[in-house]
Amino acid sequence: MELFDLAPVKYTDDKMLILDQTLLPGKEVYIEMQTKEDVWDAIYRLKVRGAPAIGVAAAYGLYIAIKDLPASDYNVEIFGAVLGETAEYLASARPTAVNLSWALNRMVKAFDAAKPDTAEKAKRILFDEAEAIRREDEEACYAMGKYGLSLLKPGMGILTHCNAGTIATAKYGTCLAPVYLGQQQGYDFRVFADETRPLLQGARLTAWELQKAGVDVTLICDNMASIVMKNGWIDAVVVGCDRMAANGDGANKIGTSGVAILAKEYGIPFYMFVPTSTIDLSTPTGNDICIELRDGAEIGSMWYAHPMAPAGIKTYNPAFDVTSAEYITAVVTEKGIVRPPYKENLKKVMTR
Ligand code: MRU
Repeated sequence: MELFDLAPVKYTDDKMLILDQTLLPGKEVYIEMQTKEDVWDAIYRLKVRGAPAIGVAAAYGLYIAIKDLPASDYNVEIFGAVLGETAEYLASARPTAVNLSWALNRMVKAFDAAKPDTAEKAKRILFDEAEAIRREDEEACYAMGKYGLSLLKPGMGILTHCNAGTIATAKYGTCLAPVYLGQQQGYDFRVFADETRPLLQGARLTAWELQKAGVDVTLICDNMASIVMKNGWIDAVVVGCDRMAANGDGANKIGTSGVAILAKEYGIPFYMFVPTSTIDLSTPTGNDICIELRDGAEIGSMWYAHPMAPAGIKTYNPAFDVTSAEYITAVVTEKGIVRPPYKENLKKVMTR
């Protein structure tokens, strides 16, 4: 299938489908989500992943959780209570990416504002809201692509970490959107993709996406970022974000902060792509962001034919780290490019 036809979440023929990203790059397989437990599990296991994409998945997940509730004994309070409980359950799948709770809150708010008097109306409101969340994310990514491209020049070498591409969003990606737009306009970027241990989103997903789109991409191990910068091959770093605090500290895939520190040392601009759905002004600083801890098996055995670490070894496996605002040259949102001081300027962009 063409890259941009591979949406991470699809709702067609009254079925919610998820592109199982754990099978990529080997297999492009959609799986059906029938229950809220299926959606929780798909988010937890990273079958669907990337902050905006899990927001979209959760929104449709909330809809499929209520769409078969009996219409005959509809009561707006009872329906609202089930909705709230289900939203809380889905939000518990992963704690760091704010898009998850943001999308669920938005669904609940749409229902509360409308106070629908029939089950049919309630279901329609929730489906329409999920569709709007998906559509608006696609538009936001396209806009970030345009703003992002204005920061880049033809022929540049670009380093990226993890996967903030089309399958991490409704469409186009956040930090890869300008790469795709540049590709259409003959910019001939040379992209370096960090493999992104331990779950290899760079190797499995970014390398696959960019290769599929015909972009010049070179896969490197995470510990090679310094040498490619020192070699003079990198003109800009572009990354996504899972939650940006009010002061501009941004949580993203584990390893991002190290790349940002290296970029500063080598005088390379570091751009974080953050749709406003990922900006959380209620979290004051990066220290207040909850970092997801995952199973240590992901480090030592999960991706290998034979375990690469001794049985029973102690592990520490944080899924994200926080890049301090001081290392972020600019934040690219769908409403424009935000520069320091972030505390003032993020607030302004949120009200634009
Ligand atoms: O654990 P993942 O694969 O969901 O982590 C994804 C990232 O860190 C992305 O960079 C971020 O969610 C932005 S996606 C546009």
